[in-house]
Amino acid sequence: MLKSWFSVLVAAHLITLIRADTWCGKNYKSSLPPVTPGGNFPIPSQSKDPLLAFRCAPAIRPYLAEDVSTPASVLIDSPVVYSQITDAKAIDLGSAPQKLNVTISLNGKTLANAMVPLNATAYEIPFSLLSIQPQAASYNLTCDAAYTTTGHSAAPQTFSASTALYVLPNPSSGSVTKMDLRTGALLAKPATGNGGDYEAVFPIGFYTQFDGYLTNLSVIDELKDQGFNMIHPVPTFSNMTLFEQVVDKMQEVGMYLMYDMRWTYMNSTSVTEQVNALKNKPNLLLWYTGDEPDGTSDPLDATTEAYDLIYSLDGYHPVSLVLNCQDYYWVDYTAGTDIVMHDVYMIGNNVSYSNQWNTVCTPDYGDCGCDNCVSIPAGDTAAVPPNSTLPPGPVPANSGVGTYFNIANRGSSFESRLDVMGWRRSKAIWTVPQAFGGGEYWVRVPTGQEWVVQSIVGINHGALGVVPWSDPTPADIKTASSAFAKSLPNITPFLFNPQAVHNRGNYVVGGVDIATWSTGSQTLVLAANTNYVDQTVSWMDIGVNGLTTTVVFQSGNVGSTSDGFTLGGVGAGAFVVQSNQPMASSATKRQYIMYV
Ligand SMILES: *[C@@H]1O[C@H](CO)[C@@H](O)[C@H](O)[C@H]1NC(C)=O
Ligand SMILES: *[C@@H]1O[C@H](CO)[C@@H](O)[C@H](O)[C@H]1NC(C)=O
Ligand SMILES: *[C@@H]1O[C@H](CO)[C@@H](O)[C@H](O)[C@H]1NC(C)=O
Ligand SMILES: *[C@@H]1O[C@H](CO)[C@@H](O)[C@H](O)[C@H]1NC(C)=O
Ligand SMILES: *[C@@H]1O[C@H](CO)[C@@H](O)[C@H](O)[C@H]1NC(C)=O
Ligand SMILES: *[C@@H]1O[C@H](CO)[C@@H](O)[C@H](O)[C@H]1NC(C)=O
Ligand SMILES: *[C@@H]1O[C@H](CO)[C@@H](O)[C@H](O)[C@H]1NC(C)=O
Ligand SMILES: *[C@@H]1O[C@H](CO)[C@@H](O)[C@H](O)[C@H]1NC(C)=O
Repeated sequence: MLKSWFSVLVAAHLITLIRADTWCGKNYKSSLPPVTPGGNFPIPSQSKDPLLAFRCAPAIRPYLAEDVSTPASVLIDSPVVYSQITDAKAIDLGSAPQKLNVTISLNGKTLANAMVPLNATAYEIPFSLLSIQPQAASYNLTCDAAYTTTGHSAAPQTFSASTALYVLPNPSSGSVTKMDLRTGALLAKPATGNGGDYEAVFPIGFYTQFDGYLTNLSVIDELKDQGFNMIHPVPTFSNMTLFEQVVDKMQEVGMYLMYDMRWTYMNSTSVTEQVNALKNKPNLLLWYTGDEPDGTSDPLDATTEAYDLIYSLDGYHPVSLVLNCQDYYWVDYTAGTDIVMHDVYMIGNNVSYSNQWNTVCTPDYGDCGCDNCVSIPAGDTAAVPPNSTLPPGPVPANSGVGTYFNIANRGSSFESRLDVMGWRRSKAIWTVPQAFGGGEYWVRVPTGQEWVVQSIVGINHGALGVVPWSDPTPADIKTASSAFAKSLPNITPFLFNPQAVHNRGNYVVGGVDIATWSTGSQTLVLAANTNYVDQTVSWMDIGVNGLTTTVVFQSGNVGSTSDGFTLGGVGAGAFVVQSNQPMASSATKRQYIMYV
């Protein structure tokens, strides 16, 4: 017995030693050879014949006992696809596309029935919660679909999906953070705990140093005045009494808490203590478990173990984590979270040659501080920051100059992977912009404008929260991020509008990364110039029909006319455009090439 325990300990120790020399499963020390890390996201194989990826989800997670007399709904997604994504099943479309006859049931009892078109996105079927007894455990909701082609007397083709439906007892104290699965937005009451309605929250707030910074309670007032709505204190916290004082001060001024268990999330005793100590805080927005668990190759079930434990103890707040690797066991780590963040740090580091370890960085080797990040294309001088150390002359291939499109691609590939897994409704993506530098891989800090570009590119590719690493941050970044935070009330209503989310278009014009969210009569245009030279974009380039334009946010030089807009180098803008006719068809959308 003693011996076997001892060998387990030795084995665990060896694993720690091996882990210390890898990042994202790759060797990074020049003394070690390249290894294939494995764990790549399985690219679905193509299908010649159409497949139906029939999926369902509750519109809100969780519902509460107090919600039972208000209408609830189930969301149906019914994409017809030509690749073997999770749970996609062959469909014979017949000569003319028909609707799906969808039945929602619980334990064999029908709750709702509706005809749903093919290729529907978040199609809402209302149902009543009245007959459902609130309980801590989730219900297993069944969604069945029948498809009958015209002129066929044959039995209809059938499809089935299931989803967890939470109808929880009202909490005895503390807050509830719900998720709107139509958009991925979090819904919460004001952080003050003084009541109020649930509202969609776009969390913006830094990972924040605790000792010697946040423990000065005036800093919390200052952050509130600067327009941030959330604080993510970074453990360890030397003094838990003081930590609770900080959290209470945050509540007093109306700041949400993102609670980080990075060092302890694999210790169930510790997680239990922490969750029980904080779950009743009115300003608790969400939990945070693994901090780059993929980088350190934490056990593949670690995030799910923590997730299940947190849900068994609380269940009223979602769980988040950040992944640093571009493509390393993404499915396993993401299985254990509601919100998956990415932290693509590409400013001031050499993304193709490691200045820390003196090796190249490839899919099989090296750590450059930005996993599998690509350099700007050879010859692209417009994308080179002004103070670059590159030798004069044309920019070579693999120059090491990081490109903001790494952030775009990370966001877009996370979105695609959610689609492939059938997780698009149940999980959301947030972004972690770089707000640090001057050490390790990163020889300089981003400027304030560069910070804004990173954040907008993240949002354009699906992020619904911005949590920069880290505060204290340079004044330039604090000023720029504060201005951006204060402009969010004009921006986020589009990101929380299911119709606008469905109509999102993504474009690249020159070096400008653009997304549009259209409600029909109004379009939000979020644009970030990833180049260091001026760029003009015409409304026509992005299918927008501009009658009147309001600039609701600007960073750097921004100009707009009836024809379009101009951004200075690493400038960014948010525009609300009124139109007198529907937007151009989505056929004009130009999507990114994916690196995955
Ligand atoms: C849909 O299916 C239900 C249950 O099988 C059936 O009662 C109903 O008539 C069908 N609706 C249509 C429009 O076919
Ligand atoms: C559904 O979408 C697919 C791919 O986007 C398209 O090829 C197909 O024509 C659409 N089918 C229907 C019935 O709308
Ligand atoms: C939910 O029910 C379906 C059958 O309708 C079943 O296939 C699935 O495994 C169940 N899910 C859970 C989590 O029990
Ligand atoms: C506490 O923070 C405030 C606001 O940033 C600052 O003005 C003050 O100097 C800080 N006090 C200490 C003791 O650091
Ligand atoms: C922890 O913080 C509290 C409140 O500021 C203080 O009273 C206490 O002395 C601190 N404890 C330690 C061990 O420093
Ligand atoms: C796990 O957490 C408990 C409670 O904080 C602590 O006593 C214990 O030492 C921790 N275990 C490990 C292995 O760190
Ligand atoms: C380049 O250097 C100048 C002068 O030191 C500085 O003002 C500017 O912010 C730097 N630009 C970038 C992108 O770092
Ligand atoms: C990255 O490192 C390589 C190899 O030392 C060097 O040739 C290149 O200029 C560096 N790029 C940057 C942006 O510093």
